[in-house]
Formats: sequence, structure tokens, C-alpha cells
Amino acid sequence: MDRPLLLAPSILSANHGRLADEILAVETAGADWLHVDVMDGHFVPNLTLGPPVIRSLRRTSKLPFDVHLMIEAPERSLTAYIEAGADWLTVHEEASTHLHRTLVAIREAGAHPGVSINPATPVVAIEPVLHLVDLVLVMSVNPGFGGQRFLPEVLPKVEQLARVRAARGLDYRLEVDGGIDTKTIVAARAAGADTFVAGSAIFSTADYGVTMRELRQAASA
Ligand code: DX5
Ligand code: ZN
Repeated sequence: MDRPLLLAPSILSANHGRLADEILAVETAGADWLHVDVMDGHFVPNLTLGPPVIRSLRRTSKLPFDVHLMIEAPERSLTAYIEAGADWLTVHEEASTHLHRTLVAIREAGAHPGVSINPATPVVAIEPVLHLVDLVLVMSVNPGFGGQRFLPEVLPKVEQLARVRAARGLDYRLEVDGGIDTKTIVAARAAGADTFVAGSAIFSTADYGVTMRELRQAASA
């Protein structure tokens, strides 16, 4: 099945003093989803935002919120994120002791469950839960910061996840996050990714619409 390509700007690289305006700008400029990075200062060495900010932003935008939890023990706060407005909620394999239970709980609470793996985590670690998710997020940088260099060594995992999906008749979106720009998006797309997070590549430019068109063109070429 050929899934439509989706672009999810990451607000991590937006101006946090003007978040609502920044979101409106990418929404108007044609973003498909909004990628919201939640960091707890433990699972990753950085701290961002939580449910209260997501709840406020939810009122300013119609975009699907793709919430990426880079937090330890995500099972403790799933419902808070979903009630705040997460449409898609992704947890890290490395952070959730009872991953199967966590993913089931996300769906039961009304959001699309996603699972993410760090660059050093193999696909085999999530194979037993792939039938439970609507999204697999392959990190192409070590999570924690925007503006890092794309790690091409994760591309075989994207290929593997596309193969497993076809072989098992599963249906998840395949998302890549970290270091995506007009060059690396070509390689990620070729490997089988269909959903692309981009932070600094979009928010560091003057015209978000032009940049997103360039990214889409590069990925579809
Ligand atoms: C990194 C975050 C990413 C980050 C990507 O830990 O998960 O979503 O915003 O930023 P860029 O696109 O600048 O690598
Ligand atoms: Zn992210």
C-alpha cells in the first residue's frame, strides 16, 4: 500500500515565546501534522513542555497533534497527554517497562499508539508489539535536541520495518525523526518512510511554506 507522504514540523525548534503564532504559520503553510516533543530531563538531557501547554495549543490549531514522549515511565501520564489533545501518542521502547500494556492503554484512552526506537535499538525489540501500533517512529538522531546530524545507519531499520509490515499484513505509519532536510528526506523516503518530522530544517528558514514544498518535492522525486 502506498501511503501519502506526511510532513510533521517539530515545534522544538520554533520560537517558544510565540508558539501559537508559529503553529498557525506552519498550519497555514501546509503542514500535515504538528510534532510535539515532550522531554523530561531524565530519559533525555533536555526539558520541554507537558499537558498544560499542549492543552492550550490544542485550542489554537486543527492539526493532528503527533506527541512524541521522551519521558521515563510514560504509562504514568498517558491519559493526561491524551486528554490535553494528543491524537497520536508515541512512547519509547527504551522507556516503557511494560510496553505491550502501555500501547494497549493508549488505544483504549482514544489515541493512535506509536512506538519509537533510538538509533541503537534494533527492530527486534518492538517486533512483538507491531500489531498494536498505528505508528513506528525511527529516531535518526539520539533524542534530546534539534539540529543534530542525520544518522544514515538507521536506514536499514526503516527498510526492515517496511518489509515486516508487508510480510505480516500490518498497517502502521513509518516515521523518521531527526536531521531531516532536503537531502536526508530522499534517503528516508527511499528506505520506506512515509511520515517525516522536521524541526530546524523548517523553523530556521524565513518562509515555512517554501521550505515544506522543497521537502515534499525532494521526497516525492
Ligand atoms: C529530537 C526530537 C526531534 C527534533 C528534530 O529529540 O525528537 O523531533 O525536534 O529536530 P531536527 O529536525 O532539527 O533534527
Ligand atoms: Zn520528536
